[in-house]
Parts: sequence; C-alpha cells; structure tokens
Amino acid sequence: MKRAKMTPWFSPFELIRHAPDVLAAAVFGQRADTRLTEALAAPDARFFDYSGGESSVGEFWMDFVADTGDGWNSTYAVASAVARPELILKDSRGAEHRTIRGGLLVFGGDQVYPAASKELYKQKLVQAWKTALPRTDPPNPKVFAVPGNHDWYDSLVSFTRLFCSRDWLGGWETPQTRSYFALKLPRHWWVIGTDVQLGSDIDAPQIEFFKRVAGEMKPEDRIILCTAEPHWVYSRMYAKYNAAVYNESGLRFLEEKVFATPAQAGGRVSVFLSGDLHHYRRHAAADGRQKITAGGGGAALHPTHGPDVSALEGGYALATCFPDQKTSRALCWRNLFFPWTNPTFGFLTAFLYLLTAWAVGADIGPFRLSEIRQAVSTTLLEVLNKPLAGFWVIAILLLFFLFTDTHSPVYRIVGGLAHGLAHLCALFFIGWGATYYCVSVRGFAPGSFEYLWRCALAVAAGGWLTGSLIMGIYLAISLNLFNRHSDEAFAALRIEDWKEFLRLRIDASGDLTIFPVGIRRVARRWKARPAGEAGPSLVPDDPRATAPAMIEDPIPVRRPAAVH
Ligand SMILES: [Fe+2]
Repeated sequence: MKRAKMTPWFSPFELIRHAPDVLAAAVFGQRADTRLTEALAAPDARFFDYSGGESSVGEFWMDFVADTGDGWNSTYAVASAVARPELILKDSRGAEHRTIRGGLLVFGGDQVYPAASKELYKQKLVQAWKTALPRTDPPNPKVFAVPGNHDWYDSLVSFTRLFCSRDWLGGWETPQTRSYFALKLPRHWWVIGTDVQLGSDIDAPQIEFFKRVAGEMKPEDRIILCTAEPHWVYSRMYAKYNAAVYNESGLRFLEEKVFATPAQAGGRVSVFLSGDLHHYRRHAAADGRQKITAGGGGAALHPTHGPDVSALEGGYALATCFPDQKTSRALCWRNLFFPWTNPTFGFLTAFLYLLTAWAVGADIGPFRLSEIRQAVSTTLLEVLNKPLAGFWVIAILLLFFLFTDTHSPVYRIVGGLAHGLAHLCALFFIGWGATYYCVSVRGFAPGSFEYLWRCALAVAAGGWLTGSLIMGIYLAISLNLFNRHSDEAFAALRIEDWKEFLRLRIDASGDLTIFPVGIRRVARRWKARPAGEAGPSLVPDDPRATAPAMIEDPIPVRRPAAVH
C-alpha cells in the first residue's frame, strides 16, 4: 500500500473530496448520534479490569498517543517508538531511565486524517501501526481509542468497525465495544476515556455508564482522564469570544459530579490527557495535578506560541512546551514559502483571479505607466457600474471574511477585509501589467484573440503565485503579530517533525510517573531492520533523523492515598 504524505490541508482538490463528508457529519452528527446506537448494542458495558487484583506486583506501563494516522514518516516514527520492547531515555542530568512498551495503549482522538473512511484508516493508521508491531503470540498489549472530530466525520462508522468490534490493530487487541471506556489499573488508578463527539456535550448513556463505573471505585481511587479535546486550553483561548461552546463544563461535570469523592479535595482526576492540538503542552497545578496536551502522534505540528495560555483556571500554570515558543514562532515564518509547500492551492487563486478579472473586464487604457491612477479609477468605476462585477467582488471579500479566524469578530472584519483587499490589489496590478505588456509592448489590439489568451494566461499564472504568496504572508502575520489563525498557519506548513507521545508507569508503590517522549526530526527514509535486532520491522535510514528522547524530566504524580 502507498505510504501517505502529510495531508495537504490547503489543496482545493482535497477540500472538494472531503467537504461533503465533513458537512454531512456536522449536520447529521448531532441529530443521529452513533453513541446512542452503541449504547443500545452493548447495554451491559462495564469497565475493563487490568488491575491484576490485590495480588498485582511490579510495574504497570501504558502509552498515550493522540492525533496519529497522517503521513507515513511521522505516524510510523511514533508507532515504531511505541512498539519497541523498551526505550532507554536520559533525563536532564544524564541519568538513564528504562521504559517498557505499555501493556495498554490509549489513542487520544483523531486516529485518521483528513476525514474518516475505511480506506484512509487502513492506509494512514493501520499500515503504520501494523508494521511497527505485527500480531504475535500472547500476551498481547491492548489498545483503546477515544474518537476525535476527524473520526466523527463519517459518523463514527469506520472507527466503530476498527476499534469497537473486538478485533486487532496490528499486535494490539481492541477490546472496547463503545467509543468511551473505563479501565481499572493496578494500585487504585483508573483510565477514563470520553467521547465528546463533534464538540457537543457528553450524552446521557455515557454519563450513566460513568456513574455506574464511579459506583465501583474506592474512595481513594484516582483517574487519568483521556478526552479528545483540551478544553482547559480552548476555554482559556476562546471563552471570551464564545463561552457557550468553549468551556470546561463537560469536564467539570465529570470531575465534580460524576467522579467526585469526599476522600480527595477537587475530585479523583489527577491527570487530564488530550490531543487535538498537535504539540506537547503541559500545565500543572500546585497540588501536582497535570493537564497535558500531547497530540504529536503523527499529524502536522501545531504552534505552541499564539494566544496566551500561561495560566489556566483552577491554578494551573504552563510548565513545558515542545517545541518551545521561540522555535514555534520561527517556524511560522516558513509560511512565506507557501506556494512551494502548498503548490495546488494556487489553482484556486488562479481560478478566482481569472474569474474576477473577467467579471470586471475594465478597459484600463491608455496603458502608460504614468496613467496608473487613471487605470485605478476606471477599474473602480467599472465595478460600480457593472452589477455582476460588483456582486462578484463583494462575494470575494465575503469569502475571505468567512475564512478569517472565526473566534475574534474584530479580526474577522479587519483581517478578512485587509486580506481580501490585498488579493484585489494584487489582481489589479497583475491585470494592468498583463494589459500593458500585450497592448503597449506587443501591440495587440485590445479584445483580439491574441490579446485575450495572453492576458488570461498572465492573470492565471500571476494568480497562482501571488494569490498563494499573499495567503502565506497573511497567515504568518496573523499568527506571529496578532495571535490568530494558529490552526491554519501551521496546517499550511505540514511539518512532520516534533512528534511525541506519553509513556506512563505505575510503580510497585502506586506512584504514577509520566515520561513525555519526543522525536525532534522523523526519518524521511526507512530500511528493513538489521537481522538479529529486536523491534519494529522498519528502522530509520536517514542520518538526520533523531532518536526518541525525553522532552522534559519524568513527571511524578502523587499516589492514591490508600497506598501511602
Ligand atoms: Fe487532530
């Protein structure tokens, strides 16, 4: 099967291919909720017990990977690091830590890009993870997955087929039957995986399920909560624009109502894990609770700079980012090379520039450089006098308004307008230049066939390059100067490096330690594993690739009170 490249988010062809599914999911997802069907199909769902009972001894290991299933290099780099029987990682003092492949793997949402389908899961997720760890003799590790918005784009059909049918993902067994789950781990720890659908609240059967699970917990039990969206970050970033959508109410309801316990102030949840943002960003509270965004499982890097999230509600403060904010800001300037990173985007701007020039069709003679002011006023008059041209120009400006960062109304108007006008100005100069060349330099009669096709070609070529360049400049400025368009500015870069996942250990005494593992640069080429070595069947064949390394020192989390 073909190895996938990183999703070209700014390709108009990709947009046309997947837009109908995404729209259908947005329209029908909330009305035909697959989670209700799941609940009916498996009414007696219980938690999975991996605690090993009272007699459990030794260490328990678990891996957490989110936002995997994109380009081969990045997805396989993470999958093969997770699949290795062990990883030796050095902390900041140079001390070595032996970490073991988790008996449990939790996928934290968005297991496929850009949209869900049986074929895309196979090509982008299954192929990489199966190559990293094929099915072997027992004991086999288990994988559980919470769905993210990208999994929901086919109303969860393919996700359910892959993860909720008691099947296999390579060497990992998939025991879950619903899109949310509860796992009992040794020494009073639990993993709770929620399904927040397309950002809507948690449904009633899911709440009922978690209430039943909470009823089976001991007062001192503690929770690692896995959710597909870092609501703690989004509520800080966007609540001032839309508090009804971006808030922590769903999480807080689980934390304070469903999983509350008198034994622990603030509830049982000690660790919140999420992806959705494709980077590593950890917030910690003074009492040792952690909120970690770790969406570096394969999808294109997201920035760690932008809106200020240094302090969150509940006393959480930003501890570490990967990549650091300075690096993230520097990477953003790569948008100035937008036409080279997103070559097909230019077809859209070329087409729009051509249509606009056609609609306006201004006769901007007499084609002398000194008459440019005259040409501007002729063009403006043409737009005002031709209803179709006026309508088209307004439609173009509206398009940019709609594209502009939807969270800030002010930026939407000012940024959208400035962006749209920049394109219209560029088009004017391209059109004027093309006309000047054809009439004044080459001497073609305006309106002649020679004149028309040359002008059209020049406008399309200019539109391809300039339209893309303006988009890149707009994205770079928006994020680096105004903290807007975080998603779009980095989606355009399609960066496959700076990947990461979390490895968690519950030791014999019940302490939880989190090892954040980062891969600074993933391999671009792969070769068969040398004979006699253990591990995944393909290994890097790229001297510039970096080995998995600790992003920051291991993070200790207080053990449940009962095992002190
Ligand atoms: Fe994602």
